[in-house]
Amino acid sequence: MKRPLLVANWKMHKDQAECRAFVRGLLEAGGVGECAVVLCPPFTALEATGRALVGTGLTLGAQDVHWEEQGAFTGEISVPMLKACGCEYVIVGHSERRRIMGETDGMVQLKFKAAWAGTLTPILCVGETREERQQGNTRQVVGKQLELALAGSRRDAVPPAIVAYEPVWAIGSGVAATAAEAGEMARFIGDELRRRGSPSNQRILYGGSVHPQNIGEFMAQPGIDGALVGGASLDPHVFAALAAAAGRCR
Ligand code: 13P
Repeated sequence: MKRPLLVANWKMHKDQAECRAFVRGLLEAGGVGECAVVLCPPFTALEATGRALVGTGLTLGAQDVHWEEQGAFTGEISVPMLKACGCEYVIVGHSERRRIMGETDGMVQLKFKAAWAGTLTPILCVGETREERQQGNTRQVVGKQLELALAGSRRDAVPPAIVAYEPVWAIGSGVAATAAEAGEMARFIGDELRRRGSPSNQRILYGGSVHPQNIGEFMAQPGIDGALVGGASLDPHVFAALAAAAGRCR
């Protein structure tokens, strides 16, 4: 049985001191039990958070990455830079970057490949808008996002990756997908990955308005291995409660 995986996406929240305080607070609140946890602070707090995580068993991830190793890309951060800060994971293709920052499927593909080539595990985000779901196009949209992100990867060598199903309409809205909706899409994503010859250690997460009261329903769904958490990951006590609830489901 895989350990539940919780990825905390802090988005544009927390400076260095606040990140350190979170780690202290989480440990004081009882830690994360049997869950595997990745904390994704803003770039400016990666190093401070990484230092605070030493010896805790928790791991570090970044929220984005550029695909080139170095060069004239003002404001961008590369895979080697993230690795030098202690990152093991990186979120790729979050819907906020796709929608607000204009990130295209082509860019997501380059980032996904660069992360994998640089031995950072990519956490690929996919998900449909409310309109796309209402039009019955959820599988088509998510399938296409997956296909484009993985395009060019050798069929027999799809990298070990984490895929987060995050319906855009559920993010930060307080209205999560139902467990059945999330489970159905997680199994669809798992089937798509296997069809491309992906290794069996793929993990599929659900993200979008996850909190301690609903995590159990998601974890009970076959095919869902954990959660990508925004708002409920900001407070160490809430996050500890979330981890405890996730741990109880396995
Ligand atoms: P919320 O948990 O705040 O809905 O955010 C989800 C998310 O975007 C995580 O990446």
